[in-house]
Parts: sequence; structure tokens; C-alpha cells
Amino acid sequence: MESATTVKSDTQSWIKPFLADSDRFVYDQFTDPTRDSLMRGKFPPTFAWGVATAAYQIEGAWDEDGKGPSIWDVYSHKEGNVYQNHNGDVACDSYHKIDEDVKMLKELKVSHYRFSLSWARILPDGTVKTVNQSGLTYYRNLIDRLLEANIQPMVTLYHWDLPQALQDAGGWENDTTIVHFNNYADLCFRELGDKVKLWITFNEPYEFIREGYETGCLAPGLEHQGTTVYRVAHNVIKAHAKAWHTYSNTYRERQNGYVGITLVSNWPIPASDSKTDIEATERFLQFMLGWFAHPILVNGDYPEIMKQDVLRKSREQGLTSSRLPTFSKNEKTLTKGTADFLGLNYYTTRRVRHAASPALPAGYMEDQDLKYWHDQDWPTSGASWLRPVPWGFRKLLHWIKERYGNPPLYITENGYCDSGADADKERQLSDNDRVKYYISHISELLKACRLDGVDVRGYMAWSLMDNFEWSDGYSYRFGLYHVDFDDQNRPRTAKTSAKVYSRIIQDNGFPEME
Ligand code: NOJ
Repeated sequence: MESATTVKSDTQSWIKPFLADSDRFVYDQFTDPTRDSLMRGKFPPTFAWGVATAAYQIEGAWDEDGKGPSIWDVYSHKEGNVYQNHNGDVACDSYHKIDEDVKMLKELKVSHYRFSLSWARILPDGTVKTVNQSGLTYYRNLIDRLLEANIQPMVTLYHWDLPQALQDAGGWENDTTIVHFNNYADLCFRELGDKVKLWITFNEPYEFIREGYETGCLAPGLEHQGTTVYRVAHNVIKAHAKAWHTYSNTYRERQNGYVGITLVSNWPIPASDSKTDIEATERFLQFMLGWFAHPILVNGDYPEIMKQDVLRKSREQGLTSSRLPTFSKNEKTLTKGTADFLGLNYYTTRRVRHAASPALPAGYMEDQDLKYWHDQDWPTSGASWLRPVPWGFRKLLHWIKERYGNPPLYITENGYCDSGADADKERQLSDNDRVKYYISHISELLKACRLDGVDVRGYMAWSLMDNFEWSDGYSYRFGLYHVDFDDQNRPRTAKTSAKVYSRIIQDNGFPEME
């Protein structure tokens, strides 16, 4: 990897208040001149700049105009599942606030807006038996307003809110859900695909599968150790591939769009120079990212390491076959190469060491024989799982380029949260820590793009506005815009980060001073 040779110490004046003393570094903790200096320069002229949201996190109107219940409606309505029993019944009320949402997007001057469709708003019981026209109308209106404002929609089909009726039939554990997802995707391509050119099938399957089916921290809240996660992932990968083929076979020629998938990964760094710790970082990446990226981008099959490790553990547990399912030859062919682009969500980096787990209990974490954590001296955020480590972002991007043959990439999420429990609105509006996060991460992305040759096409900040942060309810704020959840009108107010991000967008990066 080259170092950031173009870095200058004279920074644009607007950046200065957000930098550490030396003027070249964002964080006092990260001051290695070759690794951490801010990079100056611009992104390619066609670079996509945007913000991201998801239906359940912002829309509200959970049972209006014919929408069916989703697993998140049911999960959040059950006492004790979400912080202070918060839910997304109203959320940011975006179902009634297209004007306000588009106004913010115009103010930011984004070229793209990533949002998701609520499957149950369009198909109340998840199947194409009944199509809810009001749901389609809402999304058509939103898309039309975006296009009028010259903002391209980037649409996620599945951001975690499965129709409850399908969950009642087994959800992602049942392979008929693959067919229902494909029918839903087909309908969305047909109805909206003349105006949408960027589609994402699934958002972060790693997260909704692990937390939804093994730890129980996300809907549907199941705690099945060891086997279910792999079976569910198998169905989700097949559903992704099927929808991609549907687009390719029926719509691509006419609509000229692209279909990808959004995966999340942390960057792992070894706890020591030992071979075993270094190998543990590879396992970490393969289990988190490779689980999905390898079948879809490489060869239609799971990473070798994953296959070996789950098989070994399964045998130690007295099983005759692996808990990791296998793809047939035909399924491999159908899965391989089914992403026109990779969407990547990056938030943080972890320290990783080898740590052998006993044979039982069986579990996704136990299969990996490792432990991970954050260094205590890294910068903090409002969430214990999120510590800003910008240089990990560049390293992850470089790894993806090398491993997967430099696929076209969109950063579909990256962002910082502070605590929503802090009721002081003025303090929340002066969100300098979020600004530091964006400046430092976008600068690392610029290095990846300009110095490392990573084929990155765009960047979507998470999130447009404060919203329902899943099991943490409204206790974490990720927004560029503040939302007052105590006011029934849910007013939105620009934070400092919104102004800074807009400036970066208009400059297309961090150009040298004139
Ligand atoms: C990933 C998820 O896609 C999004 O829904 C969530 O709010 C952010 N990360 C922050 O945790």
C-alpha cells in the first residue's frame, strides 16, 4: 500500500476547528504521519454522494393505508425487547413528510438518496396475493420528488422488516421465503424500475441473521445456537441470487440498472504478531464478510476456512455432517457473480486474538475460535460497539480490492452516533465528534480511491436524520439532522455535521487551497 504522499499540513480553514493540535490529524490518538495524515484532493467527477435511511427506522405509519405488520412491529411491541420499549410506530414520520425529507436532501446537495422499501407496506402479507397500491404510491411519490430534485434513488429491498405473515410461516428458515422475496423484488422492479437504477437486495445479512436468529437482539428475536444462522444465511444468499437473475433476465435490458448487495464488515487487527492471532483475523473477516461475499463474488461457495472450521467443530460435537449447508453445483453456478456492485457498510475496527472455544455449546462465535474487542485508548462514541478507527476503513477497502478482484463499490453506510439520552439539543446540534468521524473516514476513502486504486463509486452517510436505532430505540442518534421525538411534528434541524458534509459534497472531497 502506498502512503498518503499528497498530504499537506496546510488545511482549508473550515477544517481547522475539527482537527487535533498538529493540523494534520483528526484524532489525538492517531498521529502516525504516513497512516493518519489527512489527504487533500478530489474524488472522481462522477462520484455519488448521498445519505442513507431505512423504512422501519424512519417511516412510522406502521398500520396506515393497508400496510401489514412486519417482524419489527411485532418485536418492538413486545415488552422488554427495545430500550425503554420504544418502537417505530411514528419514528420520524417520514410516511407523511416527503416534503421535509426532500428539503433536507436538497440542502445537503446530495446526488443520491439510499432508502429502503417496507415489504409489508407494499405486500401486506408478504405475498403477491394482495398488492397495496397506497404503499406503491408513497414510494412513487418519493422517487418522483427525488428525481425532480436531480437526486438518484438507491433502493434497498430488504432492510430487516420481514412481513410478519411470512415469519409466522417460518421466515428465513423456510425456503419458500426465497420465492416470496423474488416475487416482491420482481414487483418492485416492474413497478419502480423505470425510475430506479441502483437496487440493493439485502442490507447487512450478517447482522440481521446473527442478531435475529442467534443472540435474539434483533427481530424476530430467536435464540437458536449454532445451526439456524447458517441455514438462514443459505436461504438469504439464494434469495439474493434469484432476485439478481430476475432483474437480469427480465428488466436489465429495458431498465439499465444495477443490482447489488450491502455487506457489513469491521476491520480486524491482530492482538500480537503470533501466527495464531494473525490467522484469527483472517477467520474474523471470512466469517463476517466472506460468508456472503465469497459465494456471491468469488465462486458460489463459502470460504474454505469457514467450511473447514464449521465441519471440524460439527464433528467434535458428534455430528456426522457440517452445520454449514452445502450449495449444489447448480446453485453455485446460479450464485456466483450475482452482484453488479458491492455495497459496504463500515463503522469500526476490532482487535482480535485466537481463543479456542470448547466443542459445546455450538455457536457461530464459537466456530471461529477467537475473541475481539476495542483498544481502550481509541476514540469513543455514544455506543460501546462503535469506536472510530478511520485507518481501518482504508485497510478493509484494500483487502476487498485484493480478495475480490476490485469490484465496483459503494459505501452504503458509514457514520457516528452520540447518545440520544443527552437531552440538550444545542449540544446535539454542535456535533463536532460526528464531523471528525466524517472528515477522517472520507479522507481514508480518498486514499483508498486515489492511492490504492479501489474502485469506489460513491459514499452514503448514515444517516440523513436521527432515527429508530433498532433495539437501542431512540437512545442513539446517528443523524446529520436532529429530530425532536418529543414533538409530534418531528421537526428536523441541521446539525453542524450536515453543513460540513454538504461542503465536502460540493467540493467533491478536500481540494487543495486555491
Ligand atoms: C447498520 C444498519 O444497516 C442500520 O440500520 C443501523 O442503523 C446502522 N448500522 C447503525 O447501527
